[in-house]
Amino acid sequence: VPPPIVAPSILAADFARLADEVRAVEHAADWLHVDVMDNHFVPNLTIGLPVVQSLRAATELPFDVHLMIEDPRRWAPGYADAGAYNVTFHAEACDDPVALAKDLRSAGAKAGLAIDRDTPIEPYLELLPSFDTLLIMTIKAGFGGQRFIPQLLDKVRTARRHVDSGHLELRIEVDGGIAADTIEQAAAAGADAFVAGTAVYGADDPAEAVRRLRGLAER
Ligand code: DX5
Ligand code: ZN
Repeated sequence: VPPPIVAPSILAADFARLADEVRAVEHAADWLHVDVMDNHFVPNLTIGLPVVQSLRAATELPFDVHLMIEDPRRWAPGYADAGAYNVTFHAEACDDPVALAKDLRSAGAKAGLAIDRDTPIEPYLELLPSFDTLLIMTIKAGFGGQRFIPQLLDKVRTARRHVDSGHLELRIEVDGGIAADTIEQAAAAGADAFVAGTAVYGADDPAEAVRRLRGLAER
């Protein structure tokens, strides 16, 4: 089992001090999770490509971009070109996920497939060899600070069995309500990458919060 990845979500950071907020976790985090929402795929609006481009120069952290947008085939490669390490788009928003994964890899990024709360995992298992990360939402996508839904870990268990039996090189990432009281069950279910917004940026010491979460996720 590779060491767990902890990816603070800047959705819970102070957007007026974004570079400082990123630097606060620079030496503790593995990836920086960037939530892009278009107010169409989800009923919320966040940041887009210009912010990612500017932020790219402010930190060495790999960017884990989570696109909660419609028409990802149009927009996702731009995030790879902007230097994102991993670009994740939603299965519900894309009619040819494998083609987009190929485009992202050609553009030099890793490719991620996200599965929202109400979407079953089974139809997507056969696509996983084309992906580097599988993001399983543990809430309904759209807002930070929601309560973790433990039933959604069944999808993590199913994915973990499939990944292990197929010897796939794929991170299983969970996103939504991950905190000190939920991360251990997510890790036990088979997740090995953990997004945390409120649990990191709501803490007095965000870097310490990241280290604590990683310690709890190590098994
Ligand atoms: C929500 C986003 C999450 C969000 C998680 O749709 O995808 O990344 O930032 O926030 P918390 O950790 O507060 O649930
Ligand atoms: Zn996210």
